[in-house]
Amino acid sequence: MLVLGIETTCDETACAVVKSGNHILSNIIASQIGLHKDYGGVYPELASRSHVDNFIPVLKESLKEACITAQDINLIAVSKAPGLIGSITIGLNAAKALSLAWNIPYVGVNHVEAHLYAAMMHVNPTFPAIGVVLSGGHTFIVKINALGSYEMLGTTVDDAIGESFDKVALMLDLPYPGGPEIEKLASQGDPLKYSFKAGFVKNNPLHFSFSGIKTNVLYAVKGDNANKHSPTILPEEEKKHLAASFQHCVFMDVIRKTLKACDLHGCKTIFLGGGVTQSQTIKNLFKKQLPPHIQVHYPKKGLSLDNAAMIAGLGYHLYQKNPISDPLDMQAAPRMPI
Ligand code: KG4
Ligand code: ZN
Repeated sequence: MLVLGIETTCDETACAVVKSGNHILSNIIASQIGLHKDYGGVYPELASRSHVDNFIPVLKESLKEACITAQDINLIAVSKAPGLIGSITIGLNAAKALSLAWNIPYVGVNHVEAHLYAAMMHVNPTFPAIGVVLSGGHTFIVKINALGSYEMLGTTVDDAIGESFDKVALMLDLPYPGGPEIEKLASQGDPLKYSFKAGFVKNNPLHFSFSGIKTNVLYAVKGDNANKHSPTILPEEEKKHLAASFQHCVFMDVIRKTLKACDLHGCKTIFLGGGVTQSQTIKNLFKKQLPPHIQVHYPKKGLSLDNAAMIAGLGYHLYQKNPISDPLDMQAAPRMPI
């Protein structure tokens, strides 16, 4: 079965063709990073308009690269939530229109569930397992009982992890998106120079809180009377130590909580997904901390950041379980629990 995946939840317009859930024939992504750079984050209205401009060229490219025509597609899978409502609506309406025009079914997919699926896509997953999503908009730990069956164990009570990287990058005068920039700068710094502490949330040891450490970085950059507009007092040389210490503290917090979740729920397998898993640093740190009886899986190259291959792959499994097309009045949603 050939599935066309469509992803437009944030600032990437993406289409992919995937065979039988995991054989990727094409995975095309039009990034809008250049468009949002000056704003230090995604400007929602610009993102929606850009999806409209990019969609048809990206769709055509995905079919061309897969060496197929529209008649070969059997199913359309599209991100229906969570994300920017205007952006999602562009992709969702396109999926509905193509479903009608090509007379094939379409299914809506939860974007964050697809981030987790990206880590399972190329292995034979065993359950129960611990799933962790680390992205620009989401940070949570779930117990995965089966594909489609999740128990929420912990989530962030303030910023998402990628968001905190993007905000700290702004403080250090680094461009958006901040994660890769911080990783680059941190590679020259001392991760233990600053003793930061990630937030501990009293009622749930598996919850995350990143806003405190973000404020600590702000004080280190701007001094005790810091606010966003006060001048930077930090010598340039010091920025690399700050980046390294911030990154180390946040990643160690994720690793400790993930391993604690394995312990508490008797799981020996971890699936990590989302844009932050693009970081080689978190993979290296995890490797060092991992007990021999636990296995950790990441998305393959090109599947960590937002993409449509993960949407097509998960859509395939949803349709296998329940082979009916979603109704044409299905609505996009800015929030949706996994
Ligand atoms: O999953 P994603 O593409 O978008 C959402 O669904 O939110 O994730 C994007 C996020 C951005 O916040 C970006 O800064 C972060 O992933 N990111 C990283 C790295 N590469 C991307 N964060 C830390 N280290 C990285 N190397
Ligand atoms: Zn995402």
